[in-house]
Amino acid sequence: MKVLVIGGGGREHALAWRLAQASRVSRVYVAPGNGDTVSDERYDCIDISEPAALREWAMKEKISLTVVGPEGPLAAGVVDEFRAHGLRIFGPTQAAAQLESSKAFSKAFMKRHKIPTAKYEAFTDAAAAHAYIDAKGAPIVVKADGLAAGKGVVVAMTTQEAHEAVDFMLVDNKFGVTHNDGGARVVIEEFLQGEEASFIVMCDGKNVTALATSQDHKRLLDGDEGPNTGGMGAYSPAPVVTAEVHARAMREIILPTIRGMEKDGIPFTGFLYAGLMIDAAGHPKTLEFNCRMGDPETQPIMMRLKSDLFEVFWHATDGTLDQVELQWDRRVALGVVMAAHGYPLSPRKGDRITGIPAEAPDAVVFHAGTTQQDGELKTSGGRVLCVTVLADSVMKQAQQRAYEVAARVNFDGAQYRKDIGFRAIHARNTPHA
Ligand code: AMP
Ligand code: GLY
Repeated sequence: MKVLVIGGGGREHALAWRLAQASRVSRVYVAPGNGDTVSDERYDCIDISEPAALREWAMKEKISLTVVGPEGPLAAGVVDEFRAHGLRIFGPTQAAAQLESSKAFSKAFMKRHKIPTAKYEAFTDAAAAHAYIDAKGAPIVVKADGLAAGKGVVVAMTTQEAHEAVDFMLVDNKFGVTHNDGGARVVIEEFLQGEEASFIVMCDGKNVTALATSQDHKRLLDGDEGPNTGGMGAYSPAPVVTAEVHARAMREIILPTIRGMEKDGIPFTGFLYAGLMIDAAGHPKTLEFNCRMGDPETQPIMMRLKSDLFEVFWHATDGTLDQVELQWDRRVALGVVMAAHGYPLSPRKGDRITGIPAEAPDAVVFHAGTTQQDGELKTSGGRVLCVTVLADSVMKQAQQRAYEVAARVNFDGAQYRKDIGFRAIHARNTPHA
């Protein structure tokens, strides 16, 4: 069977890597892939991104299964396009992907179906947004409505910051958000306190299977300081997701979401990623939905997955996920993102990368913003690599091992956090899985 993975980041590299190990898979295509997948004989890279052109190519190549990594192609309707021509693809339709692509849609959905989330209002008018902020006070959270690559959220500690964020998003669009129909819109919501976790499940429209638990670090700097990024590192399992929190998240958030989407006539198929805020009493609330896997959460999660990923996707696209029980490595996994100089605002391209060690059973360097140029590996994007390792049961060991590997990799201006996993290292809870 030939499979296609759409995307070129670390998440897609990890999915392609796991799929290449599946027994029924003969060839893994990645569109567009990265500087590793173009040179590794396990993969073929395809430089097509437009959904209809990709679908035509997939029909010609007789691709048996397609998996979509990033939100962009999902919001552009790639799943609808493939399905309309009878191709098997795992991901949500364009309508279902609104759970991620429109904050206004997902907040209204959660309100309607009584799914726990922060209280909010949506605004297109800047004056009304400013008045709301003055009425509510700080801290308060301002979110752009539309896809923003993790940069469309400002957690404002003062009302002045919140006012500036509104002008940024509604008036100037300085974050370069892709607006939804009706133009610029912001969601302003209540500030929630607690610890975050990435709760990711697979859905076939009806049945749900949870992946191993995980957490990421969204801030650029050690101690979870500095600006928000797409994610600077992740690990699995996440101690904050105890068996009890897991059961609550499934019962109060995930299942009502799947049932709600079914009821609203837009059944959800694909990965559903609920960003949770878990308070001190262990009550989860939904910060956001993503309709795809997390990056970099996928990298540690794929290191721990023991089940045949192709068979899992096959069931997921047949509507028989209830027949699947995912098997996880009992060891812990941790991934450290190495980012380019200037990330997240203006990542520099073209720095030469050296020293990446050969893949080992317990250590894989997944690529993201890399490219081959004149026979050399060069940086080509913000997040460049994700050094991902497995270690026996203790997160501290995984952290040490990941940093040993990262220390061998060189490129000018490389930035990475030195404390990935610190919450898990200091936690006393037992995670669910
Ligand atoms: P989002 O893209 O909506 O997940 O927001 C990005 C990050 O902003 C989250 O991972 C949180 O760290 C933070 N955040 C978002 N919404 C809230 C909220 N209501 N209260 C506190 N922090 C938030
Ligand atoms: N790591 C956060 C995300 O994928 O959205």
